[in-house]
Amino acid sequence: MAESMKGLKRSHRCTEVNSAMVGKEVTVMGWVQKSRNKGGIIFVDLRDRSGILQIIFEEANCGAESFAKAEKLRAEFVVAITGKVAKRGGAVNENLKTGDIEIIADDIRILSEADTPPFPIEENSKTKEELRLKYRYLDLRRPDLQKNLILRSQVSTLTRAFMAEEGFIEIETPTLCKSTPEGARDYLVPSRVHPGSFYALPQSPQIYKQLLMCSGYDRYFQIARCYRDEDLRADRQPEFTQMDMELSFVDVDDVIDVNERLLAKLFKETIGVDVQLPIQRMTYKEAMERFGSDKPDLRFGIELHDVTDVVKDSEFVVFKNAIEAGGSVRGINAEGLGAMPRKKIDALVDFAKGYGAKGLAYIAIAEDGTYKSSFAKFMKEDELENMINRLEGKPGDLLLFAADKTKLVYDVLGALRLEIANQLGLLDKNEYRFVWITEFPLLEWNEDMGRYQAMHHPFTMPMEEDIQYIDSDPGRVRAKAYDIVLNGNEIGGGSVRIHQNDIQEKMFAALGFTMEQAYEQFGFLLNAFKYGVPPHAGLAYGLDRLVMLMAKEDSIRDVIAFPKVKDASCLMSEAPNIVDDKQLEELGIGIIETEASEA
Ligand code: AMO
Ligand code: AMP
Repeated sequence: MAESMKGLKRSHRCTEVNSAMVGKEVTVMGWVQKSRNKGGIIFVDLRDRSGILQIIFEEANCGAESFAKAEKLRAEFVVAITGKVAKRGGAVNENLKTGDIEIIADDIRILSEADTPPFPIEENSKTKEELRLKYRYLDLRRPDLQKNLILRSQVSTLTRAFMAEEGFIEIETPTLCKSTPEGARDYLVPSRVHPGSFYALPQSPQIYKQLLMCSGYDRYFQIARCYRDEDLRADRQPEFTQMDMELSFVDVDDVIDVNERLLAKLFKETIGVDVQLPIQRMTYKEAMERFGSDKPDLRFGIELHDVTDVVKDSEFVVFKNAIEAGGSVRGINAEGLGAMPRKKIDALVDFAKGYGAKGLAYIAIAEDGTYKSSFAKFMKEDELENMINRLEGKPGDLLLFAADKTKLVYDVLGALRLEIANQLGLLDKNEYRFVWITEFPLLEWNEDMGRYQAMHHPFTMPMEEDIQYIDSDPGRVRAKAYDIVLNGNEIGGGSVRIHQNDIQEKMFAALGFTMEQAYEQFGFLLNAFKYGVPPHAGLAYGLDRLVMLMAKEDSIRDVIAFPKVKDASCLMSEAPNIVDDKQLEELGIGIIETEASEA
């Protein structure tokens, strides 16, 4: 039977007990990690969020009644134990913080019994993630997840303290908003009072934080939940958290400065990592040309090289066609992989095809300087030599080339360099390489919509020197936008905002909106700007991604208490779920059966 807390107080968490307290009486409470009955003596490992403490029950010390209770203990029972701290009788356990002591129990209360859990509660669990997510409340008892969530809490607390010191004001913004169809797909919430009308959950507090600048708050920040209905990956959840900020009367360098100091503080005070300031800056163009990505991982080299000029007269149709179509031929040098067996090279080719490549051409240079190549027969000797030279190929290297539209070549080789670095074990989670990516294109062409789309959002300021091209050549305009990238992950992004009417109008025109359409969507912001708007800029971090990297995890699911899986469902609560017909009726909603909903 479960006993109560009546008259009992916890004196310490498990690992707050230490060898300086030998002889003292303590009361500890927690979960039974394991219990071993060695006949006449029972060893219990007690666990709480701080760690594990060994407890010893002997009838001579605790009496028959307590001993009988201790005999009943099984994993995950919740107990309160009072006893004396003693030096450990057996060997010291170096793996435990409390490995040199134990508690000689006097008394025990069983506060709650427990069924056998569906998987063991232990660090580095080998249990499948699906099962762990179904029983997330048990999974969350595991020390690794507890460590992650405690780290996450520290990051939030330190951020709040830093932002307050820097004069930022924390302001909450609505989560029932108006849908604004730029960006990802919205999550919609039906209105009961206005049948047929919907709120959208915010994809970010962007518009509100700009309004707060109009309202004179000068420096705003918020740890804000955001919602985006997009395809999920290891670094994407349908709801996630931004550390969001906006500043008035500033330019790019001011935002970067405050954020570099914030990052340095966070990394130093949580995981003891020194962030070298200033953080390196790289333009978008350079990042794409050298790394094939706007979020380059700088922990290793394997840079891209353009060989278009070297092969431009080649007879090889693959190269010829790509170049004639305005594309390019580029390569990377997988140094030291020249002896890679054919099968593994084929696997790399398949990997490249997964990113849309039509193929991958390679030159494998043997230790004796001779080489094997998938396309040598189509090439002249000097063309091949020049390709090898451009990539600084040496004996023992593997050179990989992609020919296609340049954007695709970047995607393919950018992904390939990561894959190869991974195979070579170059991705050290203890190394933190930050880089600011700057001068993003303002607009990107959307094939499906047949129009330009804001790369960041429609309120991002063009670079002054490029404004002149916004009507004639919108694709060439660069933006005052910046991303902060860490080890190949975009952990945050932001921009200087447009605060001038005429530039905003040009921007909408470039996006193919009439002013009428712009007002329909963003009227309240555009109107607000008529009444005096300060120049402003801001940035938002993906808190989940930041903490994931600090915790050296591979997925943001490991730093979110109750995450969703790939199809955006929660395996534990089974959300989303059907609702009562009555609820639907109240909302004026009827469900249309489609093949997908019947499946
Ligand atoms: P952006 O869209 O770049 O900018 O988002 C900012 C950061 O949020 C993180 N992020 C995500 N994290 C987890 N799951 C997701 N689905 C997800 N989507 C984005 C990323 C990203 O860098 N309002 C602007 C910021 C600004 O301009 O101030 C914005 O939302 O780490
Ligand atoms: P094929 O003549 O199609 O057999 O191609 C000859 C070589 O070129 C093979 O090694 C292909 O993998 C490679 N190849 C094909 N398409 C591309 C491409 N778009 N970029 C780079 N290499 C390619």
